[in-house]
Formats: sequence, structure tokens, C-alpha cells
Amino acid sequence: MAISKITLLEGGLKKFTMADIFERLVKNSGPIGQHRERAHGYFAFPKLEGNISSRMKFRGKEVIVWSLNNYLDLANHPEVRKADAQGAAEFGLGLPMGARMMSGNSKHHEQLERELAEFVMKEDAILLNYGYQGMSSLIDALCSRHDVIVYDAESHACIIDGLRMHSGHRYVYKHNDLLDCEKQLQRATAMIEKQKAGGILVITEGVFGMAGDQGKLKEIAALKDTYEFRLLVDDAHGFGTLGTTGAGAGEAQGVQDKIDLYFSTFAKSMASIGGFIGGDRNIINYIRYNIRSQIFAKSLPMALVIGNLKRLELLRTKPELKEKLWENARKLQNGLKSRGFDIGKTDSPVTPIYMSGGVEEASAMVMDLRENYHVFCSIIVYPVIPKGHIIYRLIPTAAHTDEDIEETLRAFDETKKRLDAGKYKAAAIPHMADVPA
Ligand SMILES: Cc1ncc(COP(=O)(O)O)c(C=O)c1O
Repeated sequence: MAISKITLLEGGLKKFTMADIFERLVKNSGPIGQHRERAHGYFAFPKLEGNISSRMKFRGKEVIVWSLNNYLDLANHPEVRKADAQGAAEFGLGLPMGARMMSGNSKHHEQLERELAEFVMKEDAILLNYGYQGMSSLIDALCSRHDVIVYDAESHACIIDGLRMHSGHRYVYKHNDLLDCEKQLQRATAMIEKQKAGGILVITEGVFGMAGDQGKLKEIAALKDTYEFRLLVDDAHGFGTLGTTGAGAGEAQGVQDKIDLYFSTFAKSMASIGGFIGGDRNIINYIRYNIRSQIFAKSLPMALVIGNLKRLELLRTKPELKEKLWENARKLQNGLKSRGFDIGKTDSPVTPIYMSGGVEEASAMVMDLRENYHVFCSIIVYPVIPKGHIIYRLIPTAAHTDEDIEETLRAFDETKKRLDAGKYKAAAIPHMADVPA
């Protein structure tokens, strides 16, 4: 592509060359994008084929899949598939047209909101087209420039993007560190007193999706006795997996009523698209009329709403799905621990495995796992985490079998020995791309 350089004269004397934005971006395609030529289709953008389950096809071979947040195995449940198909057949994907506020509302959308609110023990709920933009936009809708946001350092990108829209102060506390959280609350309170305006919003996750540890909701909620703040919880991984009824981390920790706004996506336990926020009726009504990502975007398609109603019904009425998930999570986590693997502080089904090694070594180990053991899982390396560290992330689901777990434990046992013996040391990430660069 020919890129023209424009030379400008400034004040008739100094010369400078205006940058071409695309040229800069193409030269440096980002921390992961820089590996695209070797990685595309294998380490990044892999294509898993077949029905969503614990065994799928990757590049023509069957693999045991540990990368999908299909916690309750609802993705392929026959009743869900039937509801999805019926919803699409009856309404198509176009209906309703327009944003909820203008022309895109329906009795089904409102029914789903009522059922979600009841399930998470809140007065009301609002649907979101996507969790990510819903959460970012929620933070924007809630906070004025005088408000101060106090948030966990390991918050999901959708929370961080919401903070980027916030023009007021924000104070981060060390991940799940209650002392630091309190310190930031004190700073925030002092700032509000100085400004003589604004309030405080605390944001945490119910379950942190990388390490699997629950947010300290009980302890944060107890700080409400001393400090004035509202609490917003992103419970993407807790919804459907935690608590007696599956209502999430707040229920599991006995503080669901202390959560002022409860958020979840449908992308995990519900194995679908969309999300919702639950809370008191007055604040949900405010959000309904002021959240820009929903007011200026098309409503969730009816087929998805119909499918989500069925998923919620099964999530509520089939506790055996959550029991099976936890049975598998325990087998996997106990199996790893008893073999000496470091799985950190997880107290949810999310199962990280911490190891040491370089990016090239990690790539070679992933290839061994995929090609020779048929185990497919996510891996996180530098620059997402510090150099020399490797994190594997396994998501057990109700779909996994004892055989899947046993084969995977054996695969990790054997490959970890090779990693420790330096067998994966390599000079470069192997060329595994499935498309010409
Ligand atoms: C913690 C958390 N919040 C929000 C989201 C975004 O949800 P969605 O995929 O519906 O945009 C995700 C990922 O799905 C997540 O893990």
C-alpha cells in the first residue's frame, strides 16, 4: 500500500512530517499481533469445530476442550437448542428493530428481566446486548465528574474501559487487599469532602476470571458500616456456578442484599449472548433511561431472548447441572494439587495452573499438549503476565467426563516433567499459522 508523506511548514521555518496512523499501526501490530504470522489459527484465533462439548475438533483432530465457559453444559442442551431454533423460526433475527426505548421492546424482553431480577434477588433488572459494552456504559451512566470510583486492580477490561470514560477521580486497590481497599476508601472520602460534591462507587468482580479467586464481597460489604459507598459487582463467572441457588458469589458469601448493582453476562453459564444488571427498581429505571450503550443500540434479538429464557429456566430448575460442574471442578483441582501443581487461590471452577518458562517454551509445550495428548486449553504468557511465567487456564464444565479429567491430568504430568527438564527450550515460536501471512 502506498503511503503518502505530508510535509508541513510550521510558521514558515520548522518542518515536520505528519505521521500516517496506519503506517505506525501496521509496523507495530501489538503485543500479541506481532506473532500473527506464526500463530494465527493455532496459538491465536484457533477454530474449534463440532458441537460445543468437552470434545471438539481442532485442525481435524479430536481434542479435550478446557477453554469454554459453558459451565453448566447448557450450550448443547436439547431443550436449549429447541428453544433457540423455535425463537429464530418464529421471530427471525431482525425482530425487534430499533433500540428498546424507541421501538425495540417486547413482552419477552420484559419477562426475561423480571425472571432475572427474581433469580438474583433484586427488585428489577435491565437487559444488556453485550456484557462488555453494558458494563463500560453502566459506569459512564452512574458516575458524574465529582464521583470517585474505587476498584480492584485486576478488574476485567470492560470495567477498565468504563473507568476510561470517567472524568472524575478513581483509586485502585491491590487485588483483593482489604487494607488497601479501605485506604482507598479513606482517600475517596477525603476527596469527596474536599470537593463538597459526589459519592463513591466501589467495583469488584464476584469471581476473578484469570485466577478464579472470589472477590472479597463479604468484607467489602462490611466496610459499608464505616464508609458511604455503592457496590457494583461483575459476577460473570459466579452467576450460575456459585451460591445455593446459583445466584452467584454474593449468595455464596451471604451478602447478595449488600450488592447495590449485580451484573452478569450471558456468555458463561448461560452459553449465549447478552447480559443484565439487577438492583433496586428506582436505580434500574434510571439506568434504563440513561445507559447510552442500550439507548443508542439495537435491542437483543428476540430469538436470543427466547433462548435465554429457556437457559434461565434450566439454570434455576436443574441443580444437578451445577452439582456436576462442581464434581468435575473438584476432581480436576484435587487431581492437580495432589500431583504437586500450583493452582493458586481459586475458589471457583476457574482452574489456573502456574508454571515457569519463556514464551517459546510455553508454545512448544502447548503444541505437545495439543498434538500428542489432544488437550486444548488457554495459555497466558508475557506480555500479558511478567516474563518467565506461564499460566494455563482450565475451565471444567458439567460436560466433562472422568476420562477427560484423567487424560488431562496425565498430559500435564508428563509435559510438566519435560518443561522442567528443559526439553521445550526453543529459539522461536514455531510456525503454526494456518493462513499465508
Ligand atoms: C468478568 C467479565 N465481565 C464482562 C465480560 C463481557 O461479557 P460479554 O462477553 O457478554 O461482552 C466478560 C467476558 O465475557 C467477563 O469475563
